[in-house]
Amino acid sequence: MKINFTEQALRKTRPKAAIVIGSDLSQGDQIRPRGVALVGFGTVGRAVAQILCERKNSSLRLTHICNRHVERKRQAWVPRDVIWTEDFDSVLNSDAEILVELIGGLHPAENLVRSALKAGKSVVTANKQLIARHGPELLKLAGENGCQLEFGASVAGGVPVLPALHTGLCGDRLHGIAGILNGTCNYILSRLEMSRIPFSEALEEAQARGYAEADASEDLDGGDARAKLSILTLAGLQARVSPEAIRARTIRSIDAVDFDYAAELECTIRQISRADLKDKTLFADVGPSLVPASSPFGRVQRNLNLVLTSGQHGGDVAFLGAGAGGEPTAVAVVSDLMFVAQNISAQPRAQRPLLLASPKVSCDFETPWYLRFWVNDQPGIIASLAAILSAHRLNIDSVLQKPGFEKSALPFVITIEPCRDAQLHPALEKMSALEFCTKPCLCLPILR
Ligand SMILES: NC(=O)c1ccc[n+]([C@@H]2O[C@H](COP(=O)([O-])OP(=O)(O)OC[C@H]3O[C@@H](n4cnc5c(N)ncnc54)[C@H](OP(=O)(O)O)[C@@H]3O)[C@@H](O)[C@H]2O)c1
Repeated sequence: MKINFTEQALRKTRPKAAIVIGSDLSQGDQIRPRGVALVGFGTVGRAVAQILCERKNSSLRLTHICNRHVERKRQAWVPRDVIWTEDFDSVLNSDAEILVELIGGLHPAENLVRSALKAGKSVVTANKQLIARHGPELLKLAGENGCQLEFGASVAGGVPVLPALHTGLCGDRLHGIAGILNGTCNYILSRLEMSRIPFSEALEEAQARGYAEADASEDLDGGDARAKLSILTLAGLQARVSPEAIRARTIRSIDAVDFDYAAELECTIRQISRADLKDKTLFADVGPSLVPASSPFGRVQRNLNLVLTSGQHGGDVAFLGAGAGGEPTAVAVVSDLMFVAQNISAQPRAQRPLLLASPKVSCDFETPWYLRFWVNDQPGIIASLAAILSAHRLNIDSVLQKPGFEKSALPFVITIEPCRDAQLHPALEKMSALEFCTKPCLCLPILR
C-alpha cells in the first residue's frame, strides 16, 4: 500500500491496475521493466513467481528467488536467467529495484526489509506482524531513502481494502472499520452454524483442509485479527495502535448451542474486529459477536473476509472476497509491485513527519449483550442472577431456555439491554462465581 501519511503520498495517485500490467511495453512505452527479487518461495511466493513468469512485456522482471535450502525449491517453469539463492546479501547487493518479502514473521523479515529500504530498494510485503508492529517506522525509513513500502496483501489477502483506503476512500473522513478478518475463525464458526458439530470437530476439519495451522492459537484467540485491525486503523483512521492494545477474545468458548440461541434472536455468531474513532479515543475489540443473520456479516460463510468502512461523508462501503490463499494473495502482491514500478521513477520529494494520532484505546463499547450460562439446575437461579444484575443497574431484555438438556448441565441465555462493557463486567464476575454455574458465563456483544 501507498505511503499514506506523508505529503509525498498524498500527491501520488495509484494507477489503474489493468493499464499497467496488461500493456505491451514493446510499443515505445517509456517504462522499463523493474527488477524484482522475491524472498520466500512458499505458498504466496510461488504464486507471485508464477504470475510474474507468465506475463510477457510487463513492467516487472523477476531477477532473484531467495529461500533457505533453495535447491529443493527449483521449478522448471522459472526462466533460466532468474537467480536462485539462499543469500540475503546477494539480493541486497543486486540491481533488483524491488524486494518482495514473503517469508513471514518478524525475524529475519524485519532486518531484511530495513536493509533493503536502506539500500534504496522499494519493498512489497504481505507480512501483517511486521507492519502491525513496525509499519510507521518502516514507512518513515522508506520515505527517508526515497523508496516505497507497500503491504496491500497484509490484511484480507486478495481483498483490495488497503489500496481502496488510499484511493477511493481517501476523500472521506473515516471514523469506523469493522471486519471478518480471519478466515480460519469464520470457517469454524460457519461450520458450527451449519452442522451444530462440536467446536473441536470443526477445528480438526479446518486443520485437515489446510485452513488452520496445527497450533491455531493466533487465529482462535484473536491475535491474527487484531494485528490486521491495527493495520486497518493505521491506514484508514490514521491512528497508531499496537496490536496488544486491542482486546482480543477467543472463539474457543463458543458452543454449537450458542447458534441455537443466536437463531432465536435472528442472529448468528462471527468473529468481528471493529474500531471506532470517537474524539481522541479509539474503541476497538476483536472477538466473537452476535450479528443479525441477514446482515452482511451474518451472510459471510466459510473462509471469506468482509470489511466494512464507515465514513462521515460517504457512509458505509463493503469489501468481500478471499482473505487468504496463494493466488488471491499473490494478486494483491503483484498489484502492489505494479504500483511501485509505476512510481519508482518519480522524483523523491521532501518528507514531512508521519501524521498519525496515538489515541487512547478502549474496549468499553455500549451494546446489548448475550450472556450464556451452564448451570446445575436448582430453584432460585434466575432470582440470584437478576439480583446481581439489578444491583449493577443492568436491565434484562429476555431469558431463553431450550428444552432437552440434562438438569446437571443446562444452558440458558439472558440478554441485557445496551450498557457499557465496564458496567457489565463486575456483574459477570459475580455471576460466574455462583455455585450453580458449572462454567464461566459466556458474554458476547450483540451488534445490530
Ligand atoms: N498464505 C496466505 O494465504 C497468506 C495470506 C495473506 C498474507 N500472507 C502472508 O504472506 C507471507 C508468506 O506466507 P506463506 O503462506 O507464503 O508462507 P509459507 O508458505 O510458510 O512460505 C514462507 C517461505 O519463506 C521461507 N522462509 C521462511 N523463513 C525463512 C528464512 N529465515 N530464510 C529464508 N527463507 C525462509 C520458507 O521456507 P521453508 O520452505 O523452508 O519453510 C517458505 O518457502 C506471510 O507474511 C503471511 O502472513 C499469507
